[in-house]
Amino acid sequence: MSSNINYNKRVLNFGAGPAKLPLEVSLTDLFFEFFVLRIIRKPQTLRNFFDNVLKMLIIIYLFYFRYVPDNYKILLMQGGGTGAFASVALNLMGRSGKADYLVTGIWSGKASKEAAKFGKVNLVAPKSTKPGTAPHPSTWKLDPEASYFYYCHNETVDGITIQNIRQTGNVPIVCDMSSSLMTQRVDISKYGIIFGGTQKNLGPSGVTIVIVREDLMGNPLPCCPTILDYGHVSDMNSIHNTPTTFSVYVMEKVLQWVKKNGGVEEMERRAIAKSQLLYNTIHNSNKFYSSPVDEEIRSRINIPFRVGGPNGDEKLEKLFLQGAEKLEMYQLKGHRLVGGMRASLYNAVTYEEVELLVNYMNAFQKQHSL
Ligand SMILES: Cc1ncc(COP(=O)(O)O)c(C=O)c1O
Repeated sequence: MSSNINYNKRVLNFGAGPAKLPLEVSLTDLFFEFFVLRIIRKPQTLRNFFDNVLKMLIIIYLFYFRYVPDNYKILLMQGGGTGAFASVALNLMGRSGKADYLVTGIWSGKASKEAAKFGKVNLVAPKSTKPGTAPHPSTWKLDPEASYFYYCHNETVDGITIQNIRQTGNVPIVCDMSSSLMTQRVDISKYGIIFGGTQKNLGPSGVTIVIVREDLMGNPLPCCPTILDYGHVSDMNSIHNTPTTFSVYVMEKVLQWVKKNGGVEEMERRAIAKSQLLYNTIHNSNKFYSSPVDEEIRSRINIPFRVGGPNGDEKLEKLFLQGAEKLEMYQLKGHRLVGGMRASLYNAVTYEEVELLVNYMNAFQKQHSL
């Protein structure tokens, strides 16, 4: 069977996920290496391989995050961030039967609804009715008896990031980092659980990374399925059932790439530079482009923007997308609930690619300004 794919053509993918792989990783002959050279049949070899990937994750976090304390485990699970919405509640809700949720957008909203199936969910602040805003930490009503406090670090759809959270005393903090994992340094010791799928910054979809403090394992709700029981998954070294071997394999390649490129510190520097370039272009456009998000909570990773004024001009936005696609820039259409455009600048998206995007934005503005 012949393929018509032109591998030399450079296509820019600004989609929210699954995201592109780093070019260097895409160019390695992954299928050949995985299926022909290293095909893993012996369970022991598979276990060794998983152990190596886990070590790799720990090494990267060790060197480039502040540290992964000894009392944390990293689990490789399945079911994505959505699965973790349930597994977090199933593993922790038994502490007091109630949990605090900060809802700042679509994803934390979904998580709170899922958790409400397993216990009482208290929204620490009413969800902001004004898009692009988030309730100020001083207004949060935290329950000292909550099983855990939950928030989403980067709302992928809404383009909102929560960088500062309040002290929660003995209440463990659970954080969804699905779209920001490996894009900035994190002090893991402040958290009870951090989770996120690999499909945005760490490889293909199929693997969910769960970083969990040891004392939060081993006391799941009686109805918790074995496959979602963090203590059990940890005891099984993340191989409770047939794992997503190819996804883990590619993730290892991406981790090598992160390491070779300066680790998480460098990914953070790049994320700041790329997002600043785009936000500056929006800012300097004399309101031709606009961001619907309050300045202090703007995401570095998923950047929604409108074309043709603060409420967007749908005709111009259509033309903007058509023009972008002619230049091989894809998936710039915003989420239907937010509208407008959205550029997702995951780790594999280069500064040069964002330059191409802003060059296009400037040219489009010149052509369409009165
Ligand atoms: C912030 C956030 N949380 C959770 C999810 C759900 O993740 P998954 O598709 O892996 O279930 C997503 C997906 O885009 C997300 O962006």
